[in-house]
Amino acid sequence: MFELKHLISASQLSPALLQQLFTLADQLQTQDKARTLEPALRGRILATLFYEPSTRTRLSFEAAMQKLGGSVLSVENARDSSSAVKGETIADTVRVVSGYADAIVIRHFEEGTAAAAAAASPVPVINAGDGAGEHPTQALADTYTILRELGRLDNLRVVLVGDLLYGRTIHSLLPLLAQFPGLHVELVSPPALRLPGTILDQLTTRGVDVHETASLDETVQDADVVYVTRVQGERFAFAAEYEAVKDAYVLNLKTAERLKQGAVIMHALPRLNEIAPEVDLDPRAAYFRQARNGLYVRMALLSSLLG
Ligand code: NCD
Repeated sequence: MFELKHLISASQLSPALLQQLFTLADQLQTQDKARTLEPALRGRILATLFYEPSTRTRLSFEAAMQKLGGSVLSVENARDSSSAVKGETIADTVRVVSGYADAIVIRHFEEGTAAAAAAASPVPVINAGDGAGEHPTQALADTYTILRELGRLDNLRVVLVGDLLYGRTIHSLLPLLAQFPGLHVELVSPPALRLPGTILDQLTTRGVDVHETASLDETVQDADVVYVTRVQGERFAFAAEYEAVKDAYVLNLKTAERLKQGAVIMHALPRLNEIAPEVDLDPRAAYFRQARNGLYVRMALLSSLLG
């Protein structure tokens, strides 16, 4: 039995639940490679409602559902092409879509929308990103990647770089990692893009060792994980403010050379300039493996919620 009905926030994911999902993700990955996957979700339908752009999240959810034998109803540009244009509320949209689909994945530009959708939905709702709020399935992909790359989730030294204010992936990742002992966090961001105080407070309450620093080069040498984020241009009110900070931190080959042997470089993607393409050949660059892992954790999540 899986204890969650919806997945809206990473705070719903205990270490025991993570363990359950990651064990299943490992099994599904092995079966996928051996082409022995069972069509466990045959006859079930997943609706993906995306009010913001996406490549990885939507396609990996749709691939996950199809690999498990299910099918997909997809609204990829819901902000312009759904009844939202006519003024329909999320609650009404979800009430209707839940009559056609067995689960709903939603990405929206406003924080809190996934929670509002879940409150109105008789079928499972999964938050695929709500504004600058959270992105819990990316945090699943991220923690699964750290576990596969480093073999552990405890006693990690994690450096987070870039847009810590609007970057919803790290708003979900940090509370997840904080459940494991021995976490040490270094925050590297322009002053205008610092981590929200509410999340910083959560970390310190949990006893996490957190520091804010300005220099990436001086911070990376002891890191187990360097997690780089894109500056979220779409969240800025003024283009000039975005232009002033967009390339504040760039991880290039020179910086990568400072990392220790067993470190891992991560990014939820898409990347702009914040990781130079020359870094891709470094075996520690895990971001494309991270995107692939997203498929298996989403398969594990869908089969757990719908199985
Ligand atoms: C992230 C997102 O949408 O928050 N992308 C993703 O889902 N892999 C990160 C980003 O867009 O910068």
